[in-house]
Amino acid sequence: MSHTCYVFDAYGTLFDVHSAVARHAAKVGENAARVSEIWRNKQLEYSWTRSGMGQYRDFWALTEEALDFALASVPGANRNARKALLDAYMQLDCYQEVPGVLKALKERGTRTAILSNGSPDMLHSAVSSAGLDAVLDEVFSVHPLMVFKTSPETYRMVSDYWKIERERVSFQSSNRWDIAGATAFGFDCAWINRTGQPDEYGDLPPSRVLKDLRGLLES
Ligand code: LAC
Repeated sequence: MSHTCYVFDAYGTLFDVHSAVARHAAKVGENAARVSEIWRNKQLEYSWTRSGMGQYRDFWALTEEALDFALASVPGANRNARKALLDAYMQLDCYQEVPGVLKALKERGTRTAILSNGSPDMLHSAVSSAGLDAVLDEVFSVHPLMVFKTSPETYRMVSDYWKIERERVSFQSSNRWDIAGATAFGFDCAWINRTGQPDEYGDLPPSRVLKDLRGLLES
């Protein structure tokens, strides 16, 4: 299948969500990895519950609430690390292969974009601190729709904006729930399974499973 554009989820796919806590692990305390895991899980849970309720709060507010829960729930976690962690989340590390793969895709003449639950400020900050501005054509945030992925209208933003058929969009995410949503919508999906997770959502399979983004250049 020839793809006219490559669209990427942001958090966990291009940006390492655990790099914020990793940067400040000593300050957070001995259970820092647990804080990071709960922070991410709660952030996602809040996005799904808010969408289910039809009550939107932007992703940055959910990120703050999720961190407060994580710091309160993990024994010994240092709540004074809150500001440093939030500042770091605005400037997350991207995965090592990301700049080179995006550049190579652009050189092939395909369009590249982010489609993310992140609010525009968060996304623009992460993109520019990782030096990705020049290798991305668009950054689509769900914010104007006031609903989160996996609502079909979030994926429709991309195909409507570029006026392209859904199956011509190659959509990449490390989040299996996001791959399920994008597959249900009709995108052609690559699941970036960085951590060797078992498969789920068996009725909504990706076209491809890759260990990292470099596999995109082989097709
Ligand atoms: C994103 C998160 C949820 O949409 O991974 O970028």
